[in-house]
Formats: sequence, C-alpha cells, structure tokens
Amino acid sequence: MSTSINYWLVIPAAGVGNRMQTDRPKQYLELNGQTVIQQTLSRFETIDCIKGIVVAISETDEYWPSLDIKINKQLIVVNGGKERCLSVLNALNALATQADENDWVLVHDAARPCVPVKDIKRLIAECEKDKVGGLLAVPVQDTMKRVNDQGRVVVTEDRSNMWHALTPQMFRLGMLRHALEQAIESEVVVTDEASAMEYINLSAKLVDASASNIKITRPEDLALAEFYLNKQGELQ
Ligand code: CTP
Ligand code: MG
Repeated sequence: MSTSINYWLVIPAAGVGNRMQTDRPKQYLELNGQTVIQQTLSRFETIDCIKGIVVAISETDEYWPSLDIKINKQLIVVNGGKERCLSVLNALNALATQADENDWVLVHDAARPCVPVKDIKRLIAECEKDKVGGLLAVPVQDTMKRVNDQGRVVVTEDRSNMWHALTPQMFRLGMLRHALEQAIESEVVVTDEASAMEYINLSAKLVDASASNIKITRPEDLALAEFYLNKQGELQ
C-alpha cells in the first residue's frame, strides 16, 4: 500500500526588514492594492497540489492580525524565530504533527511577491522525482569580486558556475527538518534551506528561473516589484 505524498508551503515572514528602512516590516508594505505578503500568498493559489500553508510571524507583529487573508487552503500560523532558519524550523515542527516526513515542503520568502506561477510549477515538476529536492536559481551576470576587510579586490571569481539562490526551495519535510536542526545545533548560519541540506552533504538541484522573482530588500525594490507584477503576463 503506498501512501500519497502531500505538498505544503512554508512562508517565513517574521523578519523586521531593517534594510528597507520603512516604518513597518516590508511584508506589510502596499504593493498593487494589497500587502506584499498577500501578493506572495496569491501566487500559490492556483498550485492545486499544495494542501496547506504555514506562515511564520513575529511574536510582536501587530500587522498580521489586521489582514483579511482569503485563501483556499488550510492556514497555520506559527511564531517565527530570531533568524530565518529558526522561523522555518518552527513552521516545519508545526507541520510535523500532521504531515508525513516524506511530504514535500516548498519554502518561499514572504518578501518575494513576484514569483511567476510557471516557475513554481517548473520547480515542482523538476524536483518531484528527485531524491534531495531543489531550488529556483538565476545565473550570475555581473563580474564577481572577492574583497578583503579593507574593501579592496583580492580576486575576480569565475562566475560561470555561480548562481543566485531564490525561493521557493523544495525539500522533504523529514530531511529538511533534520538538516536545519543539525545546522542550528552547530551554530552554522544558513540563509536558505539548500545551505542546510549542504551542511548534511545533500546537494540540491538548481532549476533555472526568472530573474523577476526579486526579494524586496532595499527601498528601490518596491517599485521594481510593482513593475514586474504588472508585466508578469508579458514576461511569462
Ligand atoms: N524572516 C523570518 N524570520 C527571521 C528573519 C527573516 O521569517 N528571523 C523572513 C523575512 O520575513 C523574509 C525572508 O525571511 O520574508 C527573507 O529575509 P530577509 O529578506 O532578510 O528579510 P528581513 O530579515 O525582514 O530583512 P532585513 O534582513 O533587511 O532586516
Ligand atoms: Mg534578514
């Protein structure tokens, strides 16, 4: 008897958005008539295989409760942690009470509202048969410099094998939970899920994706996100 594999979405949204320099965390800034996080959630509305969503929110968050969240999937809200990886682990721990350890989990930053639906679908299609899982990524275009502590160039890196890691990143619940626990226990800083998998010697698959899937990080990014969202029909 084979048990069916479910898909879940985890949205880390417990950051404060320091680099954005706004009065509120960037996931609550307005973007095309909705908050950034509502836009982000709506990108996944048509991904039918996703059974439920876990959102990690800061304990001191005053904005989330006032949002009118309408989604056609089960929604679980958990407290985030001090670092992104702790927020994700809290979400996975909550999921583990009702999901199977072989279920797939897609982790996607609340601050990436422009992810094209076709990229989410491609990630799932390319990883669902994979042993480890994978992530959306974009090849580096600029020349890459490594610098010393004084900000002076030490060497130019070969960019031919360099990629920007985006989200969603998709891994099995059990493996990802184990990987994050190991990395956190060893105090290794992991800024994405693939790094946690690397830490336990598992190599994630890169899935070539659209560069329009920006992470809103600095003040100029909000206008860029608006541009990409408005152009999305044309760009896909
Ligand atoms: N995040 C989280 N828990 C944290 C830190 C970050 O859930 N302790 C989330 C953010 O809300 C965001 C995603 O992880 O959706 C990516 O993080 P980042 O872009 O660094 O967001 P912030 O940490 O909020 O921004 P900054 O680093 O500028 O303060
Ligand atoms: Mg951060």
